[in-house]
Amino acid sequence: MNLTSDNPTTPAGQAVSQPAASDGAIARVLVLEMVRVTEAAAIAASKLIGRGDEKAADAAAVAAMRKAFDNLYIDGTVVIGEGERDEAPMLFIGEKVGMGKGPRIDIALDPLEGTTITAKAGPNALAVLAAAEEGCLLNAPDVYMDKIAVGPGYPDGIIDLARSPTENVKAVAAAKGVDPSQINVCVLDRPRHAELIAELRALGCGVVLIGDGDVAGVIAVTDEETTIDLYMGQGGAPEGVLAAAALRCVGGQFNGRLVFRNEDEKARARKWGITDFNRIYRLEDLARGDCIFAATGVTSGSLLDGVKRRRKPTGETILTTESVVMRASSGTVRWIRGEHRIG
Ligand code: FBP
Repeated sequence: MNLTSDNPTTPAGQAVSQPAASDGAIARVLVLEMVRVTEAAAIAASKLIGRGDEKAADAAAVAAMRKAFDNLYIDGTVVIGEGERDEAPMLFIGEKVGMGKGPRIDIALDPLEGTTITAKAGPNALAVLAAAEEGCLLNAPDVYMDKIAVGPGYPDGIIDLARSPTENVKAVAAAKGVDPSQINVCVLDRPRHAELIAELRALGCGVVLIGDGDVAGVIAVTDEETTIDLYMGQGGAPEGVLAAAALRCVGGQFNGRLVFRNEDEKARARKWGITDFNRIYRLEDLARGDCIFAATGVTSGSLLDGVKRRRKPTGETILTTESVVMRASSGTVRWIRGEHRIG
């Protein structure tokens, strides 16, 4: 790190690290800074795990993430956040974050991906964000998105939302050299997916149903240990952009198509310059150029361990966190275990 007496300081007067000159990519120093932001949100949300209050858990994560951004030497803009200015008190779309100096960065964030999971102490709740150079993340409205994702190592175009689930499963099975019945597909457990689930089961596929949290669901296709080959189904579009940013870093393919239920949703999309309502977005359409993806586990799941409170033999109480941070330009994936003293 490059800390000198000329460096900027946080509102509390501490020196902050300035990103080194960009090499056409996002400054490397930001990689670890982003983890501090997701850690702060995860720790705040963890106090509400299993307390049955989704709103309080979300509000705690949002406030902590917003505060953590204050210490970052970036001129950041939220492009995917907690909603539009009139519906979110903080981290709304268009809000400036960071110190207002340094590289201009667009940020997609979800301080608590899995509010219901957290309230019910279920698996896979995350604090998550993606950062990219200005203009490189799709400004997705808060509508649904049809999604399909597959892990790395397959030929380009192996999945295609324009094809049926059966065709996609068969293509992946053929490339893998197995029968379609050997393919596992992760799907959000929703009534709207009844037909999709029936079609997959008719092929003999293993259908891994998740209650919530499709950012982790999509990322699961990149990890052989999960045994999940494909992600399919409809979830939030903002979560789609976040998951796409992760796949840009670790590899894999993703297609997304925005789903509009009414004219109001279309009008909101037009505000972000979206005019082709049937467009199928590929990875690079959702997250271009260099990008950083960071996530900290709130509750334990397939991707990360959740926040845990421990009392050390010394009498100190600590919170442990597990985070992952990845960068597209280098392909580096870092797993970070943090210990945070709280008293
Ligand atoms: P929240 O954290 O906002 O509750 O989102 C959880 C989630 O499961 C996402 O992962 C997913 O994309 C979306 O909700 C699906 O929406 P719905 O619950 O309306 O089916």
